[in-house]
Amino acid sequence: MQYFKIGPSRCIDEPRAAAPPTPAQAQSQIDEWLHMGKPLFPRDAIQAIHDQLRDPIARGDEILVKALDGATMAFEVRTGDIKESEQQRETIGKPSIRYICYESLRSGQELSSRRPHLVYCPMIIRHEATTSNLMTGGALQTIPRRSIDDIYYVFNTALHLWEESDTWIQIKATLLSTQATTIVKKIIAFACGTMSHPDDIPGASYNSIFQHAFLVTLQRLLQQEANGQIACAVQDPAYTDADRAVLETYGIRVLDDPEGFLEVDDRSLVLSCSPNVPVKQIVVDVAKPAVVIWERVENGNCRGTDPDSPRVRQVMTQLYDALEFPYEEHFGDMVIYVRRGLEDARGMGASTEAINEPHVPNA
Ligand SMILES: C[S@@+](CC[C@H](N)C(=O)[O-])C[C@H]1O[C@@H](n2cnc3c(N)ncnc32)[C@H](O)[C@@H]1O
Repeated sequence: MQYFKIGPSRCIDEPRAAAPPTPAQAQSQIDEWLHMGKPLFPRDAIQAIHDQLRDPIARGDEILVKALDGATMAFEVRTGDIKESEQQRETIGKPSIRYICYESLRSGQELSSRRPHLVYCPMIIRHEATTSNLMTGGALQTIPRRSIDDIYYVFNTALHLWEESDTWIQIKATLLSTQATTIVKKIIAFACGTMSHPDDIPGASYNSIFQHAFLVTLQRLLQQEANGQIACAVQDPAYTDADRAVLETYGIRVLDDPEGFLEVDDRSLVLSCSPNVPVKQIVVDVAKPAVVIWERVENGNCRGTDPDSPRVRQVMTQLYDALEFPYEEHFGDMVIYVRRGLEDARGMGASTEAINEPHVPNA
């Protein structure tokens, strides 16, 4: 997916619009919010943006986003704009959310850009874009894709291999040794990637295929234990129509960003592997899922696209037990995190408030 940066935006609240903070002021302000436990990605803020993105919107409309200090930012919708250079034409598509992780926000990167008013904005609006050859009209950078029949075939083969693998057998035993299988009501996965890339993109496509095979086996296991339906949904903007069709056949629903984040609750199992967005930071702000399976949370991991913020580290150490996810080449260094005290959660509703969590700083 190619994204057109951001487009014009403005702060519509004085006096913030007139006087952005210095980098030192911004950093100390963000630290103060961190210690107060203020979430960077509150569910209602994500929902408010989603509601506007879902409404019929046209070029020239504005999408309003509340920053952490309460000021409102207005982002102009540029859908339909065309930018032409000597060789190519860029066509601006629909708007979507860009999530800024705690580390980037704290670095005050927006202060040194042309958008200092966005200094306290962990979610900003950007646009998708497609580029075509100005002379021929043909798309630039076309990526070869597997046919749908090929995806079915490869996916089925991988699913059989995965079901028989020691990795899955060990993960299944680990999950069955916890209360997770009786608590989890739905599975939400992020960034499992498209299965449409052909084999010559090293690793990528098979990662995606095995990560989705894992989801199918997880859903079957949980359904068997619950003796009922367990919903399974996935969010990744890279899915093609062929991915959607195959996944639907296996009972997996594809959600648009940010619907996956809004679906996560305290009785969810969340899976995420090498996302290009700060999934960990968003998920811990939105809910405390019963189980999360994602890359190991550790002190040094404060770079990359899904870094462990102080809040992520604190939530995971205070609320979760870390269980082994055996090494498997199609996954990163994964860990199965199971929320402590799950037996007390049985019979509870799915609300986040139902969980008595210690105070943890945000971000
Ligand atoms: C580095 S790839 C990882 C793919 C696969 N999980 C793997 O291990 O090879 C990062 C993935 O994050 C996805 N991604 C980007 N933005 C996302 C969003 N807002 N929600 C979910 N996934 C997203 C990308 O489309 C891409 O498939």
